[in-house]
Order: sequence, then structure tokens, then C-alpha cells
Amino acid sequence: MSGHGEPIPMTATRSGPLRGTAEVPGDKSISHRALILGAMAVGETKVTGLLEGQDVLDTAKAMRAFGAEVTRHGAGRWSVHGVGVGGFAEPEDVIDCGNSGTGVRLIMGTMATSPITATFTGDASLRKRPMGRVTDPLTLFGAHAFGRQGGRLPMTVVGAADPVPVRYVVPVPSAQVKSAVLLAGLNAPGQTVVIEKEPTRDHSERMLRGFGADLMVEKTAEGRVITLTGQPELRPQTVAVPRDPSSAAFPVCAALIVEDSDILVPGVSQNPTRNGLYTTLVEMGADIEFLNLREEGGEPVADLRVRASALKGIKVPEARAASMIDEYPILAAVASFAEGRTVMRGVKELRVKESDRIDAMARGLEACGVRVEEQEDVLIVHGMGPGGVPGGATVRTHLDHRIAMSFLILGLAAKRPVSVDDGSPIATSFPAFESLMTGLGAPIARAKR
Ligand code: S3P
Repeated sequence: MSGHGEPIPMTATRSGPLRGTAEVPGDKSISHRALILGAMAVGETKVTGLLEGQDVLDTAKAMRAFGAEVTRHGAGRWSVHGVGVGGFAEPEDVIDCGNSGTGVRLIMGTMATSPITATFTGDASLRKRPMGRVTDPLTLFGAHAFGRQGGRLPMTVVGAADPVPVRYVVPVPSAQVKSAVLLAGLNAPGQTVVIEKEPTRDHSERMLRGFGADLMVEKTAEGRVITLTGQPELRPQTVAVPRDPSSAAFPVCAALIVEDSDILVPGVSQNPTRNGLYTTLVEMGADIEFLNLREEGGEPVADLRVRASALKGIKVPEARAASMIDEYPILAAVASFAEGRTVMRGVKELRVKESDRIDAMARGLEACGVRVEEQEDVLIVHGMGPGGVPGGATVRTHLDHRIAMSFLILGLAAKRPVSVDDGSPIATSFPAFESLMTGLGAPIARAKR
């Protein structure tokens, strides 16, 4: 889906207590990978709990274009008949990944070691984002990539007919780059080695193992060294996708800042490479109980009971950034209601997400009357205490779902309503956001036309 339809302006108004159970959708990262690895396996992979957001639907469509049979059987229930490692067919048309950086980067990696050519594009947000971080290592396998200035989409990747294995130190903390290299390594002979200095989300490693790949992870002085043996036969799997901790963050944070709230958010992944926000919130004084810790779909999960809390600003350790990289926008919103400053350092990767999220948060918070300090790699929010945020602004969301949701949550506890210029991108990751939040009692509504 390239480009969006009409913008959907939305407004959040100061809320009474939030109550009830918030069943958030399936994990986006795991959903993309379930479809892609399913397409690389021989036979039928079954998926339950798949996120049916536009990003993942675009990946499903792409897998069909490469020759896999992808079928929806019911809500979240999908199957993929894979073509096997190295079995991708050449797509007949341009692959449109819509808003999804994860989709395009993982798929580029997957096709880069097959003798086929594919052209990729996306919406206005995705066409601004850097692809060189993925195509640089893919050229080491023998692939070629031709894009616009600055390595931007649209971009054509000519896959390597005779791929060679690669040893690659990932220069930026990015699970997408790590995963693209691992997926490319699947169809290269011998061992592909990926080294990451800082650990990032490890779903690719967990799932590759689950699908039967020979993959070894070692912690060394150089970092996390991942060794993958190429050209395995991947076995189809049954994948139960756990709920997304990044989507759960929105109702959780809403309950923390809306007075007298008390909600349950069941089955949220507590994968340590993803749960940095929750650690941070607890350090800020959040009342979150982690109940029924268990394993689901190969991931640790818990039910979260969340009550409104008096929060204090903290310094978020830089080393935690990768484990909460998508959660800084909502943390910045929550930090506005804390006492004191919340300091977020080591966050420059936020500048190359669906939007420049440091800039988008800083401008939006200022418009809502919150003082911020911003540097290339730093965002500092000066908290105004419970109920202290003036609000009363319309915030630009720059085609970024997490910016839209963060400001709608902020509006639930601000003195005056907060609007966003366009809530339509929310459908990329959390199509049920509006109904789920209103079900908890949150006054979030679309503007009347
Ligand atoms: C993702 C990795 C992260 C994250 C994105 C999902 C993934 O991106 O921001 O939402 O599924 O691998 P980077 O790899 O760019 O950090």
C-alpha cells in the first residue's frame, strides 16, 4: 500500500478512570518473520495471533509475489505454503511495502541471495528512510542494489546468482539489519557470521532455530556473534504470535497517567530484548504487577495489572535503548506527567524511524506546553506532574503511527484536548487501537467531517 488515503484527524479528551482488559494485537516483528520464514520453509506453516496491521498485510502480499501461498483462515489465523530456501520466484511487479521498514529490509535480505531481481517501494515515509544500511552488507554476498540518492526507495535489488557467505559487524544497533543479513545467509553456502555490539531484538535468531536452521550465538569481547550455517531445509512450524509489548505500551501508559485507572493487559511478551520500557516505568514509580509469568510461542509472557501512579523522572540508561527503541515516543509522553526531568540519551536511531521521532515528539510536546531539550542523540522532557500538562494543541504525526498514538494517550490526561492531524497510520501496527482504548473508557474520537 503506497501512500495513504485521506488523513484521519483524531482528538483525545481528558479521561475518567480507565477500567477493563486490554487485549492488544500480535507482535509486529514476530508476525513479519512468521510469514517470511514460512515462505522459506518447505510445506505448510500455520500462524495464530498474526497481527493484521497494514505493515504485515503488505509483507503477506510480498510473500505471494515471491511465489509462496499465503492464506487467511480467520482472525489472526493464517497459513503459508513455503517454496523452500532459494526457491523464491521473481516477482512480476514492484513490491510495495507501504509504511514498513521491517518488511522491506527483511524481504530485501531474503531475496538477495537468489538469482532474481525485485524492485521495492513504499509510502512517503518509507521512501525517506535509509536502505544503504541493509544493501551494504547484501552487496558483500554478491547482490547489487540501485536506488535513489542516499540509498532511498524505490530501489532495485539484483540477487546474487552465486552468493558467498559473509562476516558482518552491524555498524548501527538494528535488528532489521542483523535479520536481513541472517536471512540472506540462509541461501549462501557455508557460514554467515553477524556480530552486533549491542544486543537487539532476537526474534530472528529464536525463530530461525525454531524453523530448524543451524544457528549459534556466542557472547564475546566483540559483541554477540551469531553464526548461521547456510542452505538448510527449513521445516514448517506452528507459530503462536504473542501480544506485542510495543502496542501494549499505549494502554499501559494511559492507565499510569489517567487518575484512578486500573487495567489488565494480558499475555504481553516480556522478551528481555523488548521490555526496556517496562523496566524504565517501574524505575519511575509505576504500579505494574507482572502476573502469571509463562512461556507462549517461544517467548516469555506475563499479564500486566497496571494502576495509575505518581511518576518521577529518571535518566534512562543508554545501554537500554535497543530494548525500548520503539517506546521512546510514549515514554516521552508519560514523562510529561512525571515530577522532574526524564533524560533519554543514545537515541539517535529514533531520527530514522517512520518519522524523525525526536523532532516529532519535541515539537508536539512543545505545542502541548511541555518543555523539552533536544540534541542529535538526546531528548530531555521536563515533567509537569500529574495533570500538569496544558495540551490544547494539534500535533503533526508525519505518517508515524507511534507519534499519533503517543499524543492521543497524552491527551487523555492533559488539561485540554489534544488532536493529531492524521491517525490513519495507526492501522499499520494497531488497527484496533481506537476501539480498544474507548472500550477502557478513553474519550478518543475521529474529527467530524
Ligand atoms: C524491528 C526492528 C527495529 C524496530 C522496528 C522493528 C524488527 O528497527 O524499530 O519497529 O522487527 O526487526 P531497527 O532495526 O531499525 O532498529
